[in-house]
Amino acid sequence: MANLAAETTTNPTNGVSDRHDRHDDGPRGQAGAGPVADDAEWRGVAAEDLDEISDLAGVRLAARSRRLLRVLLRPHRRRLLALMVLVIFEQGSFMLGPLIVAYGIDDAIPALVRGDGWPLTLTVGGYLAAGVVNALTRAGFVRITAIIAQAALLDVRERVFDHAQGLSLSFHEDYTSGRVISRLTSDLDTLRELAEEGIDGLISGVLSVLVISVTLLVLDPPLGLIALAAFIPIIWRTRWFQRVSKTIYRSTRRIVATLIVQFVETMNGLRAVLAFRREPRNSAIFGSLNNSYAVANGDGMVAIAKYTQSIRLIGNLSLTVVMVIGAMRVIDGAIEIGTLTAFLLYVRRMYDPMEQMAMFYNGFQAASAALEKISGLLEEEPTVPEPVSPAAIGRISGDVRFSDVEFSYKPGVPVLHRMDLHIPAGQTVAVVGATGAGKSTLAKLLARFYDPTSGTVTLDGVDVSRLSTEDLRRGVVMVTQESFLFSGSVADNIALGRPSASRAEIEEAADALGAGDFIRALPNGFDTDVRKRGGRLSAGQRQLVAFARAFLADPAVLILDEATASLDIPSERAVQEALHRVLHGRTAVIIAHRLSTVSIADRVLVMSDGRIAEDGTPDELIGEGGAFADLHEAWRESLA
Ligand SMILES: Nc1ncnc2c1ncn2[C@@H]1O[C@H](COP(=O)(O)OP(=O)(O)OP(=O)(O)O)[C@@H](O)[C@H]1O
Ligand SMILES: [Mg+2]
Repeated sequence: MANLAAETTTNPTNGVSDRHDRHDDGPRGQAGAGPVADDAEWRGVAAEDLDEISDLAGVRLAARSRRLLRVLLRPHRRRLLALMVLVIFEQGSFMLGPLIVAYGIDDAIPALVRGDGWPLTLTVGGYLAAGVVNALTRAGFVRITAIIAQAALLDVRERVFDHAQGLSLSFHEDYTSGRVISRLTSDLDTLRELAEEGIDGLISGVLSVLVISVTLLVLDPPLGLIALAAFIPIIWRTRWFQRVSKTIYRSTRRIVATLIVQFVETMNGLRAVLAFRREPRNSAIFGSLNNSYAVANGDGMVAIAKYTQSIRLIGNLSLTVVMVIGAMRVIDGAIEIGTLTAFLLYVRRMYDPMEQMAMFYNGFQAASAALEKISGLLEEEPTVPEPVSPAAIGRISGDVRFSDVEFSYKPGVPVLHRMDLHIPAGQTVAVVGATGAGKSTLAKLLARFYDPTSGTVTLDGVDVSRLSTEDLRRGVVMVTQESFLFSGSVADNIALGRPSASRAEIEEAADALGAGDFIRALPNGFDTDVRKRGGRLSAGQRQLVAFARAFLADPAVLILDEATASLDIPSERAVQEALHRVLHGRTAVIIAHRLSTVSIADRVLVMSDGRIAEDGTPDELIGEGGAFADLHEAWRESLA
């Protein structure tokens, strides 16, 4: 699967170049270990660093992130425009302050000394007005960004959920639910943080630096150049910070994602964890991950502290230099004292947002990686896409044909070899064969959970890949051994087969399978909540409910993959009798290890190594003395 997944998550034209980053081979757990302790030991969780983005892939990924952003922001174009106007006024009013102070000192106060109070009144009024405009525009800015951010996040969350749900089985076999959850939680959180805190800091930071630099150069070019010289050490220091924080950032992201995956998988597999006494080991793994997370976060804080302190130091040094040289220029009469004051105020204002920008850089890194991962998930195409123009099909009779079908989960490792098979409508076919022979694979191709690598699977002569999902699910229903029930009532779970069914029809379907009695005996009968995954019912009871669900769906082709394996002999017999009745006029593919199930079949297929080894009626096969005859013999002996 690793290969297949790497293919589906990479651009085919570029698949080779970032191959080495993706740990194609080897057990998953090891690939994910990274900087965490116990590299060599299997952790039993999927590797989250499959999502780690290589620098090379960055360019391409950034493009898809941009696409996603555009889509998300499109509905907010007006608001964005308003935002730009607000920012201009906000920054403008903020920048005006020192200039007004300069005017006050150089012109208004001397005027007052001369007895004219008007300029100073103007100055004070202007300063106040600038402050009010600044406060109002700021409030508006924060409000509008919050509206846009929340709407966009809501949109992404919905998209991720809908998209993940619509992706094919093969995708989810590789992309663990923990990873989907970390897309929906921690990744979206970093986006929210950036939107709420970062953007604001960035815009005012960038604007301040630009506007102030220009203002300084205009006010007094020589002094301006001296003030701006501080940028040389600042840029050098910023590069250092970017380098360090990138490394730290990468490890924290990976660790936090692995933490989530580890947590989700432990909780999903809690039964196995308890049964095999894996708690201590799991706790140790979780503890070490948690520890590494704390350490990495600590490193991050230290780096930020070092950076902001050095920026402050540089800022203060530059302020002193400007003050000394400025004082000399004032003495020389090159500038006035008010201008120098404005200069000093501006220089101060320039270094404050630098810290914000450093924080923004951190947030931006996290958010852009999160965006890349989210857009990666969103651009994932289903491997079994719904046809663009589905074939029209009326009543489905259930004629099934496999023509020259080859299939492999992993390129180069075929599981089915050139299979030809025709099942006429209404036939009941039993499929037997050793574990791993490819029986379930055959069923999954028929139900179109996968498309064949080559060849076609047809239903009533129409390629199943050309059927709309609705027609396909109306035509083919599969019941498996691990029948999944959702939390909710028994009736709800049965109604999943046909949501429009009435209560009477639901009960009828249950009765047809002999499941009605046990259901009515539950505390609330059909309204009993089965709890998480049907945990309140026994495995056999769950299967009976799943059967009722399938019968209610009333498909033309019914596939049972080991579906009666958890039933006791009487229940299985009851189901078989029911099957015999219900399967009348329906095509059925019954996969079973227990030969008792085979007795109702018109025809038996024996599969071996991805091929059909024997094909005929049960009696014919017993007469031929092949594998099925041996199986049958062994089974009869076991009964005796
Ligand atoms: N999702 C998958 N990814 C990769 N390989 C798979 C996958 N599912 C099955 N296989 C491989 O395909 C082969 C056939 O598997 P399949 O599930 O069809 O066997 P089966 O006949 O149903 O066996 P069983 O009787 O145990 O259910 C096996 O070798 C198995 O390892
Ligand atoms: Mg199977």
